[in-house]
Amino acid sequence: MSGKNVTEVVQAEPEGIARAARILESGGLVAVPTETVYGLAARADLPEAVARIYAAKGRPSFNPLIVHLRDVAQAERYAVLPDEARALMAVHWPGPLTVVLPRRADAPLADAVTAGLPTVALRAPAHPVMQALLAAVDFPLAAPSANRSGFISPTTPGHVLASLGGRIDLVLDGGACATGVESTIVAVREDGRIEQLRPGPVQVGEQGPTGGPVEARVEAPGQLASHYAPGKPVRLGALTAQPDEFLIGFGAVAGDVTLSASGDLNEAAARLYACLHEGARAPHPRIAVAPVPEEGIGLAINDRLQRAASPPDQG
Ligand code: TXA
Ligand code: MG
Repeated sequence: MSGKNVTEVVQAEPEGIARAARILESGGLVAVPTETVYGLAARADLPEAVARIYAAKGRPSFNPLIVHLRDVAQAERYAVLPDEARALMAVHWPGPLTVVLPRRADAPLADAVTAGLPTVALRAPAHPVMQALLAAVDFPLAAPSANRSGFISPTTPGHVLASLGGRIDLVLDGGACATGVESTIVAVREDGRIEQLRPGPVQVGEQGPTGGPVEARVEAPGQLASHYAPGKPVRLGALTAQPDEFLIGFGAVAGDVTLSASGDLNEAAARLYACLHEGARAPHPRIAVAPVPEEGIGLAINDRLQRAASPPDQG
């Protein structure tokens, strides 16, 4: 299936969703909208299907995938759920929170999903299209962001096609993603300790739901210093553009485009990757980005911008 060169795009109406479900059932790859970014979905219980995700993205095999499912009841089949995890899920599911948990030994998952780790990352998305798809199939969906590994994440079907067109079977067109940056990732260890692995739309704060501390210094295996790369140098904290720079503005700093003219951080998150894609396409050899406040979802925006600005990893 996924070796073919034409990627179909269908509207995320009932007919299109049914077609996506059939392609997934037979082991194909479908790009699906979620509230954060578009995901590249395959059935999580089929090794050949999961292998296609890694091949289409050019993703290193040590970088595990998030398993998307309907709800806590389905999550029980795949992971051990400490009370702290249940409490987080009760507050934030469905939504942009991914929880890394001890993987159940008998979890019906392809081994490549977890890249050999004893843990598994679970998320129940809030987007109605992803929810309809998860309701239509009887397996969970492994889905990384639908971009070539290391590049800018996609928030529109056009972004997906620019990166993965010809490498995947179908794109379900559900329009632009409303939130715009990837889910917050926390790990809940067997003893109930919580560690934040990636900042995102959900602010977990310094205290977990049952009162324990949240540690914020651990990295997810895929969070390499250089990521979300537009393919040219990026300068942060810019108040004005140099002559050869495409300026991405924010608030009072007007640019060639702006994250949010009114300085709204939620709007900036929703527009972040579209602005970086525009900068990548622009004729300018360099990109500059205005300062964005380090608060709320601004923490996630700055995390992604710093990785976009890091030179490619050596080796
Ligand atoms: O919002 C999102 O999370 C989107 C949508 C599609 O759901 N997905 C997404 O997937 O951002 P991806 O693959 O681009 O990022 C997932 C991150 C990677 O950094 C990966 O290393 C980490 O999650 N991860 C997955 N499983 C893990 C595990 N068992 N332990 C630690 N980190 C894990
Ligand atoms: Mg990604």
